[in-house]
Amino acid sequence: MRKIFIGNDHAGPEYVDTIIAYLQEKKYEVEHVGSVGGSSVDYPDFGEACAREVAKSNEHEENSAFGIVICGTGLGIGIAANKVKNIRCAHCVSPYYAEMGRTHNDANMISLGARVIDIENAKSIIDTFLETEFEGGRHQKRVDKLNAIK
Ligand code: RB5
Repeated sequence: MRKIFIGNDHAGPEYVDTIIAYLQEKKYEVEHVGSVGGSSVDYPDFGEACAREVAKSNEHEENSAFGIVICGTGLGIGIAANKVKNIRCAHCVSPYYAEMGRTHNDANMISLGARVIDIENAKSIIDTFLETEFEGGRHQKRVDKLNAIK
């Protein structure tokens, strides 16, 4: 079963707990590298930390781990994650984004906004993200170009 790293800032700690429990119920191995409780923190710290764990896990076994990062909008923490080499973090507002993020972009992380995406939508986005395969083919060379950007 794929390992999932979770990173988050102070926006919606219960939201994050619900997502972790949801993934554990589905028997995923989950590692929380986010903030705990509601004290104000800086989303770049947790976006980077989560992305580095995903990148490190995938050094030897391509796509063995995925990451989910959560902040108020999903924007800041996703921007931080995408600064890390070999991370492709898709900001998702519906399952369609997750589907396209996987099939076309080979996304290995998603970012979600706890203040704007209701929890049932978030679960559907996560299910789609985790259950959809990369299509490869014509998309591979585009993903290779993404990975080559320095
Ligand atoms: C924190 O208030 C908020 O700025 C953060 O969670 C996120 O939405 C940033 O992109």
